[in-house]
Amino acid sequence: MAQGSPLSAIARAAASGAYAPYSRFRVGAAVEAGGKIYTGCNVENASYGLAICAERVAIFAAIADGARLIDAIAVACIDAPPAGPASGLMPCGACRQVMAEFADAALPVYVDGVGKFTLSELFPLPFILPSADH
Ligand code: THU
Repeated sequence: MAQGSPLSAIARAAASGAYAPYSRFRVGAAVEAGGKIYTGCNVENASYGLAICAERVAIFAAIADGARLIDAIAVACIDAPPAGPASGLMPCGACRQVMAEFADAALPVYVDGVGKFTLSELFPLPFILPSADH
């Protein structure tokens, strides 16, 4: 199992804070931005569509603290079956689009149990509004 960067260990620890009574699938994320570390976990809701992923919770915590560019992110799905496919460990498409809002194409994405990717490998053609002013 790939351990990834030290950020992956922080993501694994953050997963223990997940509120996932419906999926029973706890996810943690850790973001490095401006020399600080921000963590997140998935938070579900009885109205299922309102669930938010761990990655977005961590990214939004960084943004709320004033960051506008994230330097690295790690994600850890601690309840995924140990011998399951890598696809069950990858960040979802919505989170990849949110990463693209606040990161360069070279953003390192550490996926626990899979390996290290760049954002452009995971999400080569993001939607970016030309008027975006960070
Ligand atoms: N989940 C994440 O937190 N991140 C992802 O990238 C994929 C899915 C969460 C959402 C939901 O709470 C649970 O995992 C099952 O989909």
